[in-house]
Amino acid sequence: MKFSTASISVIISAVVADAAYTVLQESYTPANFFSKFDFYTGADPTNGFVKYIDQASAQSQGIIKTNTDNVYVGVDYTNSAPNGRNSVRLESKARFQRGLIVLDLAHMPGSICGTWPAFWTLGDNWPNNGEIDIIEGVNLNTQNAMALHTSDGCSINGSGQSGTLISNNCYVYAANQSTNQGCGIQDTRTSSYGTGFNNIGGGVYATEWNSDFIKIWFFPRNAIPANVLSTTPEPTGWGTPVAVFQGSCDINSKFISHKIIFDITFCGDWAGNVWGSSGCPTSMTCNDYVANTPAAFTQTYWQINSLKVYSS
Ligand SMILES: *[C@@H]1O[C@H](CO)[C@@H](O)[C@H](O)[C@H]1NC(C)=O
Ligand SMILES: *[C@@H]1O[C@H](CO)[C@@H](O)[C@H](O)[C@H]1NC(C)=O
Repeated sequence: MKFSTASISVIISAVVADAAYTVLQESYTPANFFSKFDFYTGADPTNGFVKYIDQASAQSQGIIKTNTDNVYVGVDYTNSAPNGRNSVRLESKARFQRGLIVLDLAHMPGSICGTWPAFWTLGDNWPNNGEIDIIEGVNLNTQNAMALHTSDGCSINGSGQSGTLISNNCYVYAANQSTNQGCGIQDTRTSSYGTGFNNIGGGVYATEWNSDFIKIWFFPRNAIPANVLSTTPEPTGWGTPVAVFQGSCDINSKFISHKIIFDITFCGDWAGNVWGSSGCPTSMTCNDYVANTPAAFTQTYWQINSLKVYSS
C-alpha cells in the first residue's frame, strides 16, 4: 500500500484522538490516599470562614478517616467555631498535565447553606498556569458548576456538550463577566451535585484533558459505562460530555503542571457573597450560621472510592 504524507498524518491524528488511556499514572486508593496529598494549612485564598488543619489534627478530630472501601474527608460538625470551621484542603503531591482523571465518589458535601466544596486542579502562579474546576457549588445548589480560569486569550464556544454554557471567556478578568468568573458550564441534572448526587449513591466524574480540549463527563451511579472504571478507560463511546471546554484556547500553554485538590470551605468569595440570594437564612450572616450551627454540617463530606489518573 502506498500512502501520501497527508493521508498518513490524518491516520496518525485519528489514532491519537481515539487512543484508550492505558497508562495508570497515579492511583489513589483507601490504603495510600492520605500519603499522596499535602494538607494545606494556610489562610483560605478564597477568603472562606474556615480553618484548614493538618493531617494529624484532622485524623484525631475524625475529620478524615480511612475506611475499607473508601476514604472520608469531612469537616467539624460538633463544635461551634467562632473563628472559622475546621476542615481540610488536600493538594496532590503529584503534578499532572493532560490525561484522564477518573473520580469515583460515593458521597459529596450536601446542598447545605454556608458550604463551598470543590474538586479541582490548579497550576502555580495563578491564573497563568490555569485552573480546572470539575466539581463545585455553594449553599443550596443542586447542579454542578464546572469552570476554567486562565490568563487572557482563552474562550470556549459551548459546542458538543449537554450542559448549559454560562460564560464563555476563561480569562479571570474578562470584560462583561464577574471578576474571576472564568468560562463556566452548568450541569442540567440535579443528580450532579450535593444532596441529589448523594441520594443516588454518587457516581463517577471523568475529565479528559488533551491538547485540543478539556471534557467532563458525569455518570450517575446506575449509568457508568463498563470501561470507565476498568484499567483501560476509553472515552470514545461515553456519549456527549456534560462539559466541552474548547474553542479559541491553546490548552497546552494555558494549563501547565497541575495539582489535584479537594477542599471544603465556607462562605467567602462565593458562598458568602451570594448568601443573601441563595435561599439561606437572611436573619444571620453566612459566617454566623457556619460558626453557630455545627449540626448543619453532618452531610458535609467527601467519600472517595477511588481516584485514578491515566495518560494515553
Ligand atoms: C461588553 O459588553 C458591551 C455592551 O454589551 C459590548 O459592546 C462589548 O463588546 C462587550 N465586550 C466584550 C469583551 O465582550
Ligand atoms: C467550537 O470550537 C471547535 C474547536 O475550535 C470547533 O471545531 C467548532 O466548530 C466550534 N463550534 C462553533 C459553533 O463555533
